[in-house]
Order: sequence, then C-alpha cells, then structure tokens
Amino acid sequence: MKTVKSNVHYHIGNEPETDMYGEVLHGLQQEKKFISPKYFYDKKGSELFEAITMLSEYYPTRTELLILNKYKHEMAKAIGSDTALVEFGSGSSEKVRTLLEAMPELKEYVPIDISKDFLYQSARALSMEYPHLDVHAVSADYTDKFEMPELSSKRKAVFFPGSTIGNFEPQERMNFLKMTAEFLKPNGGLLIGVDMKKDHAVLNAAYNDNKGITSQFNTNLLNRLNRELLANFDLEKFKHHAFYHAEKGRIEMHLVSLINQMITIGDKNISFSEGETIHTENSYKFTIKEFQHIAKACGFTPKQVWCDDKNWFSMHYLVVE
Ligand code: AVJ
Repeated sequence: MKTVKSNVHYHIGNEPETDMYGEVLHGLQQEKKFISPKYFYDKKGSELFEAITMLSEYYPTRTELLILNKYKHEMAKAIGSDTALVEFGSGSSEKVRTLLEAMPELKEYVPIDISKDFLYQSARALSMEYPHLDVHAVSADYTDKFEMPELSSKRKAVFFPGSTIGNFEPQERMNFLKMTAEFLKPNGGLLIGVDMKKDHAVLNAAYNDNKGITSQFNTNLLNRLNRELLANFDLEKFKHHAFYHAEKGRIEMHLVSLINQMITIGDKNISFSEGETIHTENSYKFTIKEFQHIAKACGFTPKQVWCDDKNWFSMHYLVVE
C-alpha cells in the first residue's frame, strides 16, 4: 500500500476566551446597549453572510476578488519570494486561492482561524490542491497573542482580506495593527482589504438589501441568544436598522425595539423602551489617505494600493522594517 505524504500540520496558537454569556449580558446592561458583531457568525449566521456576499447591492466581496484577480501578480511581486504567507481569519481559504495562482513558488501558507474544526478541514482540502505547499493551520484568536509554528521562510506576509478591519473600533484597530507590525518584524508585509468611503446611497443599499438578507443576518443574532443563552427575544418585536453615519465614517447596524418590553436572558431581565436599540455592528470605511495615515501611526510604511475602477474597495500593501 502506498502512503500519501502529508503536507498539512496542525497547531494550537492560543485557547480563545469564550464567555459569551458574560460579554453579551455586559453589553445589554449598558446605557447604550451593544453586542459584538463577532457573535453574528453561528452556523446560520455564516450561511447568511455567505448569501450577503452574493447580493447585487453588496459590492465588497466581489470587488475585492476582482482586485485580487486583476493585480495578483503585482501583489505576489510585492510580497516577494522566500516569504511565508499567513492569513488572519482564513475561514474556507477561498480568497487566498486567487493569490496562490500568482505565487507558484510559495513554500509555506499559515491559515489562522478561531473555528478549529472548519479551519482544519479547509486546510486539509487546500493542501490536497497544492501538494507542494506546506500548510500550517493555527487555531487561534488572531487579535490576541498566539504561538506560531517554526517556519523555514526568511520573512512573513500577512493576508487580511474582507475589510474585517472595518469592524474594529479605533483603539482596537491601533492595537491590532501595532501587534501585527511587531509580528511581521523583520521585513514583513501586510496585504489588507479595506472598504472605502463612497456615495452614501451605495453604502446604505449594501446594508439594506432588497431581499432582506442583511435584516435576517442581523436578527439571527437574537435567535442565537435565545438558543445558546436561554433568552426569550421575540424576533417580530425587533427591526433591522442600518445607516451610514457620515461624521463617524461608518455603517451602523442596530436592532430596534418596536415596543416597550422586557426580555430575559438566563436569569437576568433586560428592559427596552420603544425605539431603543441594540447596536450590533460598526463597519468603518476609509479613504486611501486615512488608512495610510493610520497604518503609519502603527509602524507600517505604505508601499502600494490597488483599487477597482470606481474606487469602492482598496487593497493596501504595507511593510515593516
Ligand atoms: C464581514 C465585517 C466585512 O462590514 O460589510 C455585511 C459584515 N455586516 N453585512 C461588513 C456585514 C452586514 C461585513 N464584514
């Protein structure tokens, strides 16, 4: 019998902290109620996000893929040879495939994700398609300190697509970028997808699609709380509300209470007045200059930027000494 040499390796980068009940309850007990957007992504939520990426109004995913495909050779050249490619929040490792087409000599790919089972399954599938690539899957919360496997490449480049950076609050964003700059020393680079400021009507439509999928995505959070945290939200009594806040440069998503009501979550009660909201997401948008300014303040040197023809989405390549 012939054995197939395996080129996929599994590592535990860190053990993510998970006190969902404590975090959610804390947010709901504030003057302005909020829940972190990271809780959108249960199985149903991930499926709904997938459906969002295919909507005509939701331009980011398809625009980023267009940019990746058009400029992958320039990106590969910027990243350079003898560089390990590390992806933060790799999920299904779908987007990286486009980049890999332009990097035939890449030796090491390090997908990092918090959902371990899905990560390992995706890493295995990818390694079978790229038999000459060493795939080191690291299960970790990449926004926290994590252990890296030993690599043979001279330097590292981080791939962080999807404009996930838009979900970070200003302080978190700084901390994350500074941490990433340290992680990339010496001589590493960051290829990051960043959604841009644009016509407010385009932004508003992207988060208020005609089919109401984004509304379902937002409301599904309450379903998850009902199921996993023994809450009793009535989904008919909350409404999706998303809008572009120009001064803050961000899309805000909220769940608006349609009436005065009391809900329970575990053994705690939370009261809502009519019109009161749970703030569920911020999605910040940046001009090229704004993002480069932030990157510089965090220790990066902006090297190149690629955009689509309408300047709706950008991919920045930033380096560290
Ligand atoms: C995954 C954070 C990039 O902000 O556009 C999509 C999430 N929320 N529709 C975004 C999202 C509502 C998305 N990100």
